[in-house]
Amino acid sequence: SNNEGSAKDKMTAICELLQEHIDYYDWVGFYMANHEARTLHLEAFAGEPTDHTVIPFGKGICGQVAESNQNFVVPDVKAQDNYIACSITVKSEIVIPLFKDGKNIGQIDIDSNKVDPFTKADEDFLEFVNEKVAALL
Ligand code: SME
Repeated sequence: SNNEGSAKDKMTAICELLQEHIDYYDWVGFYMANHEARTLHLEAFAGEPTDHTVIPFGKGICGQVAESNQNFVVPDVKAQDNYIACSITVKSEIVIPLFKDGKNIGQIDIDSNKVDPFTKADEDFLEFVNEKVAALL
Protein backbone atom coordinates (compact mmCIF):
# COMPACT_ATOMS: atom_id res chain seq x y z
CA SER A 1 0.00 0.00 0.00
CA ASN A 2 1.04 3.66 0.08
CA ASN A 3 1.38 3.43 3.86
CA GLU A 4 4.10 0.81 4.31
CA GLY A 5 6.57 3.01 6.18
CA SER A 6 4.15 3.81 8.94
CA ALA A 7 2.83 0.24 9.04
CA LYS A 8 6.38 -1.00 9.59
CA ASP A 9 6.87 1.50 12.43
CA LYS A 10 3.61 0.35 14.05
CA MET A 11 4.63 -3.30 13.67
CA THR A 12 7.96 -2.53 15.36
CA ALA A 13 6.11 -0.78 18.20
CA ILE A 14 3.85 -3.83 18.64
CA CYS A 15 6.91 -6.12 18.76
CA GLU A 16 8.57 -3.92 21.38
CA LEU A 17 5.42 -3.72 23.51
CA LEU A 18 4.86 -7.49 23.48
CA GLN A 19 8.52 -8.34 24.09
CA GLU A 20 8.80 -5.86 26.97
CA HIS A 21 5.54 -6.67 28.76
CA ILE A 22 5.02 -10.42 28.39
CA ASP A 23 7.81 -12.07 30.33
CA TYR A 24 7.98 -15.29 28.29
CA TYR A 25 8.02 -13.41 24.93
CA ASP A 26 11.79 -13.04 24.49
CA TRP A 27 11.92 -12.33 20.75
CA VAL A 28 8.97 -11.02 18.72
CA GLY A 29 9.00 -10.47 14.98
CA PHE A 30 6.87 -10.19 11.87
CA TYR A 31 7.96 -11.97 8.70
CA MET A 32 6.18 -11.02 5.46
CA ALA A 33 5.81 -13.36 2.48
CA ASN A 34 7.04 -12.83 -1.06
CA HIS A 35 4.85 -15.37 -2.83
CA GLU A 36 6.68 -15.07 -6.17
CA ALA A 37 10.11 -15.80 -4.61
CA ARG A 38 8.58 -18.15 -1.98
CA THR A 39 10.53 -16.43 0.79
CA LEU A 40 9.72 -14.80 4.12
CA HIS A 41 11.34 -11.45 4.97
CA LEU A 42 11.83 -10.05 8.46
CA GLU A 43 9.82 -6.80 8.50
CA ALA A 44 9.91 -5.76 12.17
CA PHE A 45 11.22 -7.25 15.41
CA ALA A 46 12.16 -6.71 19.06
CA GLY A 47 14.90 -8.65 20.83
CA GLU A 48 18.33 -9.79 19.67
CA PRO A 49 19.04 -9.21 15.97
CA THR A 50 18.85 -12.45 13.95
CA ASP A 51 20.85 -13.60 10.92
CA HIS A 52 17.65 -15.20 9.58
CA THR A 53 16.12 -12.19 7.86
CA VAL A 54 15.13 -14.24 4.79
CA ILE A 55 13.62 -17.74 5.18
CA PRO A 56 12.55 -19.94 2.25
CA PHE A 57 9.01 -21.34 2.32
CA GLY A 58 9.16 -24.82 3.86
CA LYS A 59 12.26 -24.15 5.98
CA GLY A 60 12.05 -23.98 9.76
CA ILE A 61 8.90 -23.40 11.77
CA CYS A 62 8.28 -20.11 9.95
CA GLY A 63 8.70 -21.60 6.49
CA GLN A 64 6.32 -24.43 7.35
CA VAL A 65 3.62 -21.95 8.47
CA ALA A 66 4.03 -20.06 5.16
CA GLU A 67 2.84 -23.28 3.45
CA SER A 68 0.39 -24.73 6.01
CA ASN A 69 -1.56 -21.52 6.85
CA GLN A 70 -1.91 -22.95 10.36
CA ASN A 71 -0.81 -21.86 13.82
CA PHE A 72 2.34 -23.73 14.88
CA VAL A 73 3.08 -24.02 18.60
CA VAL A 74 6.42 -25.64 19.47
CA PRO A 75 6.62 -26.43 23.21
CA ASP A 76 10.23 -27.67 22.92
CA VAL A 77 12.35 -26.72 19.91
CA LYS A 78 14.71 -29.68 20.59
CA ALA A 79 11.91 -32.03 19.48
CA GLN A 80 11.71 -30.39 15.99
CA ASP A 81 13.78 -31.61 13.00
CA ASN A 82 12.81 -28.76 10.68
CA TYR A 83 13.80 -25.88 12.94
CA ILE A 84 16.10 -22.88 12.40
CA ALA A 85 17.88 -21.89 15.62
CA CYS A 86 18.24 -18.13 16.01
CA SER A 87 19.70 -18.26 19.54
CA ILE A 88 20.90 -21.08 21.79
CA THR A 89 18.78 -19.64 24.63
CA VAL A 90 15.48 -20.28 22.81
CA LYS A 91 13.46 -23.22 24.15
CA SER A 92 10.04 -22.78 22.49
CA GLU A 93 8.33 -20.92 19.68
CA ILE A 94 4.89 -19.89 18.41
CA VAL A 95 4.14 -18.81 14.85
CA ILE A 96 0.70 -17.48 13.86
CA PRO A 97 -0.09 -16.75 10.20
CA LEU A 98 -1.26 -13.25 9.26
CA PHE A 99 -4.13 -13.15 6.78
CA LYS A 100 -5.17 -10.21 4.60
CA ASP A 101 -8.34 -10.73 2.55
CA GLY A 102 -8.04 -14.48 3.20
CA LYS A 103 -4.44 -14.72 1.95
CA ASN A 104 -1.51 -15.78 4.16
CA ILE A 105 0.75 -12.74 3.71
CA GLY A 106 3.08 -13.22 6.67
CA GLN A 107 3.24 -14.21 10.30
CA ILE A 108 4.09 -13.22 13.82
CA ASP A 109 6.92 -15.31 15.29
CA ILE A 110 7.69 -15.41 19.02
CA ASP A 111 10.60 -17.18 20.68
CA SER A 112 10.67 -17.97 24.40
CA ASN A 113 13.55 -18.95 26.66
CA LYS A 114 11.04 -21.04 28.66
CA VAL A 115 9.90 -24.56 27.80
CA ASP A 116 6.19 -24.94 26.95
CA PRO A 117 4.90 -21.46 27.93
CA PHE A 118 2.33 -20.96 25.15
CA THR A 119 -1.39 -21.68 25.62
CA LYS A 120 -4.55 -21.33 23.55
CA ALA A 121 -4.84 -17.84 25.07
CA ASP A 122 -1.58 -16.87 23.31
CA GLU A 123 -2.93 -18.23 20.03
CA ASP A 124 -6.21 -16.29 20.41
CA PHE A 125 -4.40 -13.10 21.44
CA LEU A 126 -1.85 -13.27 18.62
CA GLU A 127 -4.58 -13.97 16.05
CA PHE A 128 -6.24 -10.77 17.29
CA VAL A 129 -2.94 -8.85 17.02
CA ASN A 130 -2.51 -10.12 13.45
CA GLU A 131 -6.02 -9.02 12.50
CA LYS A 132 -5.18 -5.52 13.74
CA VAL A 133 -1.88 -5.53 11.82
CA ALA A 134 -3.62 -6.75 8.64
CA ALA A 135 -5.91 -3.74 8.87
CA LEU A 136 -2.83 -1.48 8.68
CA LEU A 137 -1.60 -3.09 5.45
N1 SME B 1 13.11 -20.38 14.62
C1 SME B 1 12.52 -19.94 13.37
C2 SME B 1 13.44 -19.00 12.64
C3 SME B 1 13.24 -17.57 12.98
S1 SME B 1 14.00 -17.14 14.46
O1 SME B 1 13.23 -17.85 15.56
C4 SME B 1 13.88 -15.51 14.74
C5 SME B 1 12.16 -21.11 12.51
O2 SME B 1 12.51 -22.25 12.81
O3 SME B 1 11.55 -20.89 11.47
